[in-house]
Parts: sequence; structure tokens; C-alpha cells
Amino acid sequence: MPDRHVSAHEGMSARKSMHNANALKIGLFGSNCSSGRAVTSVPERWSGSWPDNLRLARMADEAGIDFLLPIGRWKGYGGDTDYQGATLETVTWACGLLASTRRITIFGTVHAPLFNPIIAAKEFVTADQIGEGRFGLNLVVGWNEDEFDMFGVKQRDHESRYEFGQEWLDVIKRIWSQDESFDFSGSYLSLKGVRANPKPYGGSRPLIMNAGSSPTGRAFAIRNCDAFFMQASRVSLEETAQRVQTVKDEAKKDDREIDVYTVGVVTCRPTQKEADDYYRHSIIDNADWSAVDGILAKKNITRDTVSAEEFAKHRSQYANGMGGLPLVGDADKVAGQLADLSRAGLRGIAVSMVNYADELPFFRDEVLPRLERLGVRVAAGSTADA
Ligand SMILES: Cc1cc2nc3c(=O)[nH]c(=O)nc-3n(C[C@H](O)[C@H](O)[C@H](O)COP(=O)(O)O)c2cc1C
Repeated sequence: MPDRHVSAHEGMSARKSMHNANALKIGLFGSNCSSGRAVTSVPERWSGSWPDNLRLARMADEAGIDFLLPIGRWKGYGGDTDYQGATLETVTWACGLLASTRRITIFGTVHAPLFNPIIAAKEFVTADQIGEGRFGLNLVVGWNEDEFDMFGVKQRDHESRYEFGQEWLDVIKRIWSQDESFDFSGSYLSLKGVRANPKPYGGSRPLIMNAGSSPTGRAFAIRNCDAFFMQASRVSLEETAQRVQTVKDEAKKDDREIDVYTVGVVTCRPTQKEADDYYRHSIIDNADWSAVDGILAKKNITRDTVSAEEFAKHRSQYANGMGGLPLVGDADKVAGQLADLSRAGLRGIAVSMVNYADELPFFRDEVLPRLERLGVRVAAGSTADA
């Protein structure tokens, strides 16, 4: 049973701060999937099994890691390793982990078109009650066509996906907040006499995030979400700061405020050379290139559709965390890079590692204390003033 706790009066600001005073939030991304986010064949790659997830979540919770973000993926990408071929469903995964942790925020990643909104709203409330206010929702409207085929669900065109997502989320927010029964009549959803109890924990609602990269996806996030995930620039920190500012400015125009997060891939070792060597070993020499090419083909990126140079660039980016910012180095370097991202205006980062549970202890012991000294994090267990 969790023993921390969000008191009933703690509202959205406490949830947005993930119940602590860390300026830079750090989460682990993708551990519910086999191989995590590293398209590699090295034998130590992440299993994604339940015992490993449980061990990792408890370790992360103790270490003061702020959140866990799973990937909503329903079938493997194939290749020699069947990359992400074994995945734990994210809301049930979150429920198990929330019951076994005390402080950490845990997201479920949910494809709106695949979940009836009433069932989804009640699942989220159940998870939130179990975690006493630590459940978050990553809303996705769909990405990979073949996954939808498996469900017999036709993927809508891009704009309509987000229109549907809007109705779906509107219904869920009403279920969470409204005591009286209501009817809902939209272009996609038509529901009668909707009523559901209990409500989310403590009189507020779960954090909501989205990671759409199109203008429509971004506008959706600004309109509806507490957190937006975007790609950090691989070119310069200034460019990242500019991207963050653009999102914040767009939000301001709509009278909204949104926290901006990004995604990274950490290879942190005692020396820069060891980090570089392991990166080369796992992500280049032993990449599962057959899986990488399959992932790219789904996005219509092939040797026939783009230049050789562009193809090579995409290949190397996708082998490493499917596009996250590489953070490769000793503890000083990785901590410095993370602190810089915080200074660029980012509220947090979701990182992955080849084997999360093997690599987290070094990150916890060496990188997190440096981030405290750099002023972007506080010691594990400190609570927010919020
Ligand atoms: C941090 C992050 C997490 C995401 N998680 C998932 C996921 O688990 N499942 C999924 O189908 N799509 C996921 N996506 C894809 C996005 O939801 C979105 O569909 C994609 O970025 C394309 O943007 P668009 O929908 O605006 O075109 C994720 C993207 C990012 C950057």
C-alpha cells in the first residue's frame, strides 16, 4: 500500500509539480516494452517483464525519479529481436506499480480510438485512487496503421483523429467532474445518461499530457493538456529554448499555460570513453537494423523515398531511442546537459536506457546529486511548497 500522500486539498498545482520541488522533472520512458527504446540486439537489453518493471519502479521511487511514462504499443516491430514485441498494457501496468510505490507519478498511455471513454474514465479513476493522486494520462490518437488493423478499427484521417480525441477527452473530463447524469451528442460520440463514481482522488484530476508533433497535435495539447512533449534540438540549446518559447507563446495567446517536456536517451558511465564505447557497441555495432528499417518503412522512410544521406541519419536516430536526444558521457557531462535543458525552459525529460535497472543506480548516485548541486533538483523525498 502506498503510504505517502497527497492530501485531499492538494490540487492541480501539486499534481503538475509531481508533488515535489524539482525544477527539472526526470522520468523513465518505455520500460513497459521489451527492448525499451533501444533498437539493439545486445543480450542485456531490457526484458520489459513484470518483475523487472516492479523492481525498476521501486528503485526509481526510492531514488526520487519523478515519473514513469509507458509506451502504448500493441504489437512488435519485427526485426531480429521483434523490437517491442512484448508489451505490458499501460493502465493495468500503472495500477500495479502505483500500488507498489509511494511518491512517483505514473502515466498510462492510451489510444483514444481504442478505448470506450466510459471504461477509460473509470479505469483512470481506479488507477488514480490506487495511487492517491499519482496517475497521469498520456493521450495518443494513433500513430501506426497496422496496429489499428489488428483491432479492426479504421484509423481516421489526421485532423479527424484529433477532433475525435477532443470529444473523447471532453466526455472523460465531465465524467471526472460532474455529479449529475448527462447526455453527450457529438460528431463521433453519442452517449446517454452518463454517470460515474467515484471521482479522481482528492477533488482534482489526473495530469494529462500529449506529444503530438503536428500543428494540430500541438494545438490539441495546448487546449487540453498540462504537459506537452516535444523534440529537443540536436543542433543547439538556443534552438531548443526557441521551440519551448514558441509553445509557451502559443499557449499564452489562448490564455493557457503548459509545461514543456522532452525525450532523451541516457548512456552515462564513469568516463566519457566508456560511455562512447558502450553507445557504439549497443546502438551502432549491435543495432537491430532489420527492426530499424521496419520502423522507418512504416513512416515511408526508405532508400527509395529519401536521399541516402537522409536515410542514414534517420537510421542512426531511430536505433537510439527512436529519436530522443542522446545524452552520452560521464556524470558531469550528462548532469550539465540536463541542467542546460532546464535552463532552456524545459520542465522535464523522459529518458530511456538500454537496461534501465542496471543503469539507474549509477545515474541515481552520480547524476542526481550533481543536479542538486546545479540547483535544478532537490534531494529525494523533499516535498513541494505548492
Ligand atoms: C514522448 C512521446 C510519447 C509518445 N507515446 C506514444 C505512444 O506510446 N503510442 C503511440 O501510438 N504514439 C505515441 N507518440 C506519438 C504521438 O502521440 C504523436 O502521434 C506523434 O508525435 C505524431 O504527432 P501528430 O499526431 O501530431 O501527427 C508519442 C510521442 C512522443 C514524442
